[in-house]
Amino acid sequence: MRAVVVPQPGDAEVLTLAERPDPVPAEHEVRIRVTAAGLNGADLSQRRGFYPSPPGAPEWPGLEVSGIVDAVGADVQEWRAGDRVCALLSGGGYAEYATVDAGLVLPVPDGVDLVEAAGLPEVAATVWSNVFGLGRLSAGEALLVHGGSSGIGTMAIQLGRAFGAQVIATAGSDDKADFCREVGADAAVNYTTQDFVEAARAFTGGRGVDVVLDIVGGAYIPRDLDVLATGGRILCIATRDRTPASVDLGLLMRKRATLFGTTLRARPLTERVAIIAAVREHVWQLLAEGRIHPVIDSVFPLEDAPAAHRRMESSSHRGKILLRVG
Ligand SMILES: NC(=O)c1ccc[n+]([C@@H]2O[C@H](COP(=O)([O-])OP(=O)(O)OC[C@H]3O[C@@H](n4cnc5c(N)ncnc54)[C@H](OP(=O)(O)O)[C@@H]3O)[C@@H](O)[C@H]2O)c1
Repeated sequence: MRAVVVPQPGDAEVLTLAERPDPVPAEHEVRIRVTAAGLNGADLSQRRGFYPSPPGAPEWPGLEVSGIVDAVGADVQEWRAGDRVCALLSGGGYAEYATVDAGLVLPVPDGVDLVEAAGLPEVAATVWSNVFGLGRLSAGEALLVHGGSSGIGTMAIQLGRAFGAQVIATAGSDDKADFCREVGADAAVNYTTQDFVEAARAFTGGRGVDVVLDIVGGAYIPRDLDVLATGGRILCIATRDRTPASVDLGLLMRKRATLFGTTLRARPLTERVAIIAAVREHVWQLLAEGRIHPVIDSVFPLEDAPAAHRRMESSSHRGKILLRVG
């Protein structure tokens, strides 16, 4: 089969189309003939040499795919050849075939295009497990989403609104802030011209926000804590600002606040399977009803993976970037 591999760490041009053996599903796995693969920030880190695939996963990138099941292992009951699915992978999505544990597979939701479904597993699992799992966001609460126009951000805005929260998003330009409002945010802040702490405080009438989904870290963490309501939760899922965060523990205690950090890929298989089950239970119906939808920026042919990576690095995209495989 064809796969996009990383012969040596480097810029987007190192991504190379190569031949690799077709994978064979283990007893608990399904094999998917890949229709499309989603891009994620982790793929860029992996390409630069900082985030290798975990042991047992293919060495090439790709954390999510959509496609058609074409073979199943002996122990797999739920899936059969011909099923239209999408799946959360530990790596190896940039290829014509991928194998994955049956518990990490989801049906393509009714009404969702098979290609676009490739952009769902990673954002749905990350947002659900953080904002609603650890963060326990509930109706009537206020959610602050940093990077609201990103793949993660567009899902967080939509799910926050669908579950009855008020959502304020940050973005790096007025256009992107407008886009966040179009996706459903009640308010959006251009963080290059406006202080998000002041804006979020004004948005909540001085009360502060209950949950923050943070993809920046570093200097953002004390500002998140500053604008957090009593009992609030901060979910740190990326460290774009690599400087160590300085946290006022007295303020953390006075606010009875919680600071979480997680990475989805590193969680044990049993936890990821439980997250996928929760996503299917709580998120999939909203997709089928058209109350939320995948937000797709662009679709590149598999062989144009370098251009897709360059687009993500330029940060000019809104929503998910996909690779069309088959
Ligand atoms: N921990 C986990 O389990 C997990 C899982 C999935 C993704 N992630 C992380 O979550 C982040 C979003 O993922 P993605 O796939 O949606 O990536 P993406 O589409 O590339 O989004 C990155 C976003 O970061 C925004 N950004 C950069 N600096 C910012 C700042 N100072 N304030 C607010 N926004 C800022 C950019 O928007 P602007 O141009 O508006 O700045 C861009 O939209 C990535 O860093 C990714 O690595 C973590």
